[in-house]
Amino acid sequence: YEAQLDLTDIEKGTYPYYMLKEIDEQPAVMRRLVQEYQAENGAIKLDQELVDEVITSDRIYIVACGTSYNAGLAAKQLIEKTTEIPVEVHLSSEFGYNMPLLSQKPFFIFLTQSGETADSRQVLVQINRLNHPSLTITNVAGSTLSREAKYTLLLHAGPEIAVASTKAYTAQIAVLALFAKGIGEVKQIAAAKDFDVFHELALVASAMETMISEKAVISQLTEDYLTGTRNAFYIGRGNDYYVSCEASLKLKEISYIQAEGFAAGELKHGTIALIEDGTPVIGVITEAHTGAHTRGNLKEVESRGAKTVVIVSEELARPTDQLVLPNVHPLLTSLVSVIPTQLIAYFATLQRGYDVDKPRNLAKSVTVE
Ligand code: G6P
Repeated sequence: YEAQLDLTDIEKGTYPYYMLKEIDEQPAVMRRLVQEYQAENGAIKLDQELVDEVITSDRIYIVACGTSYNAGLAAKQLIEKTTEIPVEVHLSSEFGYNMPLLSQKPFFIFLTQSGETADSRQVLVQINRLNHPSLTITNVAGSTLSREAKYTLLLHAGPEIAVASTKAYTAQIAVLALFAKGIGEVKQIAAAKDFDVFHELALVASAMETMISEKAVISQLTEDYLTGTRNAFYIGRGNDYYVSCEASLKLKEISYIQAEGFAAGELKHGTIALIEDGTPVIGVITEAHTGAHTRGNLKEVESRGAKTVVIVSEELARPTDQLVLPNVHPLLTSLVSVIPTQLIAYFATLQRGYDVDKPRNLAKSVTVE
């Protein structure tokens, strides 16, 4: 048996960096997932035994590290709304050594691009010993966590080479959306019935393309707002907060700008003390019920000297907002709002002259605890 490797997948082609190639591939990954997970009758392809185990569970525990952890957070709300099963998202390195009191019938999901992360694996080993059912969602078929979990769902994102994860993050959220829709439909949850996930992911793919075509604007914006800065903040609420966490991780890991994602409402309880004259603060706004509050928080930091950027859904946009996202299904906004933040991290790193694909001190796959 010889592994068939499509070399076009792992070569950069005309791209200067893998990260840029992988950012650009995201719309295609969304479309591939629609194909891979759609059965001929239009249903979602999910193992029946997996479905049965999930619908009889009373809580889903998502366990992951790094960007995969942030993807878990970004999918929490969508899973809860479409399945009506409570979801907890945990860091593997914390969960393994300080396991919380588990529910009566837990179901575990391991999110791992590589399928090899030691911190996540040590949790899976414990979960297997406790005989709890588990699902690994990974980009690598046959990887350690895939082999050791009871079930596997693949990301179909193609090899991800850049250390900074981009297409795996969006693929993870999309696969969790497909999974949640499949489960919610069997449970006859109204929110799941109303959620035409294949159609919505196709719309996401187009919306991603729109943002990807804004590279020149985003590069200029990055130059205007981030040149010379030592730190930067992303703020948002709900899903916009979770995207802010991923956005700041991306920025700090490759550009070395000290970046933090904050829950916008929490600023005034301490972190606003960090705002100085010229500090860049980027607000993410895709949720109508919190948008006005986040705008209020942006005003507060502006009055303390911050330079603010707004990344906002079309329906909530105001004329002065710098980055406007096409509207997509409210449960899937993170898939689109994250795109400009990936590009901001990319351009900030280029503009500082660092190696985008190989940041210092970081490895693509971490096999030590
Ligand atoms: C490393 C990588 C991160 C990644 C994390 C989890 O720290 O640098 O980009 O998010 O591992 O990796 P996994 O393969 O488990 O998703």
